[in-house]
Amino acid sequence: MTRIDILTVVPELLESPLNHSIVQRAKNKKLVEIHIHDIREYGKGNYHQVDDYSYGGDAGMILMIEPIYKLITKLKEERNYDEIIYMSPDGEVLNQPIANHLSCKENIMILCGHYKGIDHRIREHLITREISIGDYVLSGGELAAAVLCDSIIRLIPGAISDETSALSDCFQDNLLSAPVYTRPAEFNGWRVPDVLLSGNPKLIAQWQEEQALERTRLLRPHLLDD
Ligand code: ADE
Repeated sequence: MTRIDILTVVPELLESPLNHSIVQRAKNKKLVEIHIHDIREYGKGNYHQVDDYSYGGDAGMILMIEPIYKLITKLKEERNYDEIIYMSPDGEVLNQPIANHLSCKENIMILCGHYKGIDHRIREHLITREISIGDYVLSGGELAAAVLCDSIIRLIPGAISDETSALSDCFQDNLLSAPVYTRPAEFNGWRVPDVLLSGNPKLIAQWQEEQALERTRLLRPHLLDD
């Protein structure tokens, strides 16, 4: 079973994306365990302080080192982690090979930043990998962590009922997917391509392959470089 521990100051942000659909089903099937930890419980003093002003006087609050250090240390005492990931726009940009790689791991810890960031010493000394979900800035790492978890969990064997469907996904073979359609065959005069109604599996597979290649060439040509 895969175990994912997520460390955050806003646990509420992770509730919906990790409690529905394929992720929820994978949890029900005991394929994955997700534990969400509120960093604030490890905060300083009566107010459970977790953030403070930055040295150097830049505007904005920084997540403090002690609460995060305490929480990470406690978790590391309980088990070995394959990766301790920090979600950050500075990180390597998430792609399918990274998701594939992480879906084979047993214990993954994901730290979400908030406010202006986290004390850099955490990144220097405790984090093994930094991942971004794209070149734009979110208000915190939680939504990015949810995206990362979804991309990993759906690849765990058994998470998707049709075993082959994760494998035929966009990017799995470095190609975008062919267009898909369902009933009715005609709507508003807009017709489903005839080949898909032909009942000829060979012709359909050939059409899907051509479409995948064509769409990749048009929309993500760099995927064809490798
Ligand atoms: N935190 C803020 N922005 C982010 C991004 N683009 N990816 C990952 N984590 C983030």
